[in-house]
Amino acid sequence: MYFFILVLSLFIQESILLRIVKVTVPTYRVRGQTTQLECDYQLEGDILYSVKWYRDNEEFYRFMPKFDPPKHAYKIDGIKVDLGKSDSRRVVLQQVTLRSSGVYRCEVSAEAPSFASAAGEGRMDVIYLPREGPRITGNQQEGGGDHLFLNCTSGRSYPAAVLSWDIDGEKVTNPDHLIHYPPTAHAHGLVSVALGLLVPRGRSMQVRCTARVAPAWREGSEAVVGSRLSDSKEAMLLVRSAGAPLAPSAAAVCAAVLFLTSTALSST
Ligand SMILES: *[C@@H]1O[C@H](CO)[C@@H](O)[C@H](O)[C@H]1NC(C)=O
Repeated sequence: MYFFILVLSLFIQESILLRIVKVTVPTYRVRGQTTQLECDYQLEGDILYSVKWYRDNEEFYRFMPKFDPPKHAYKIDGIKVDLGKSDSRRVVLQQVTLRSSGVYRCEVSAEAPSFASAAGEGRMDVIYLPREGPRITGNQQEGGGDHLFLNCTSGRSYPAAVLSWDIDGEKVTNPDHLIHYPPTAHAHGLVSVALGLLVPRGRSMQVRCTARVAPAWREGSEAVVGSRLSDSKEAMLLVRSAGAPLAPSAAAVCAAVLFLTSTALSST
């Protein structure tokens, strides 16, 4: 009896020739981008019955060569299939949104007699780059006598931007000069962040706030992301003083001369 089962299972394994070579799902896409998912498989003599695509276990596309039409898309939240560009080995999604994030699985099945099936999957996260550069605001009252308080607020993004300040080209790392605020949640899962800075009064300087949205929040992502997906916007402020040392009342002399030069890296 056992021997029979063993032989049978060997026979079945032998006949499973269909296999997934590779399922290609981009790790990150920027909101609004068109996205191609690929499912590469080898039939090895089997006859294709169906190719089905799922997002978080919900089917959104199937290709069945025996059917007319062979392609069919199902409406699910955050997914718009471009049927014309999709086929038995790829599916094209139009204008991904934050709701398109998830685990994408491709499942390939063969016809009789093997009925073999194989599947592969990958996770895609959609990021939203801020529309505006960070904003620098000043506050004369805060900061005390020998310091001026500046506040930098990022545009809305997902994931949250990482802010940094630099003075005359040098990054501020002294925790005593940085004031962290909890992130602010907005509609559609977007987040803005703020970082305060205490700058010493009494000399002219160039102050810059940089907001970076690089999806490094998942480990091991660096290689996949490359530099194109990281977005960096910055705001610049020249703090001018009329000669040192400044009396606290002369704080008003510190003027925002230059405001907001936004250099966004292209995201496509
Ligand atoms: C700095 O900006 C953040 C966010 O806009 C705000 O919550 C905070 O109160 C501001 N700080 C000051 C001192 O204005």
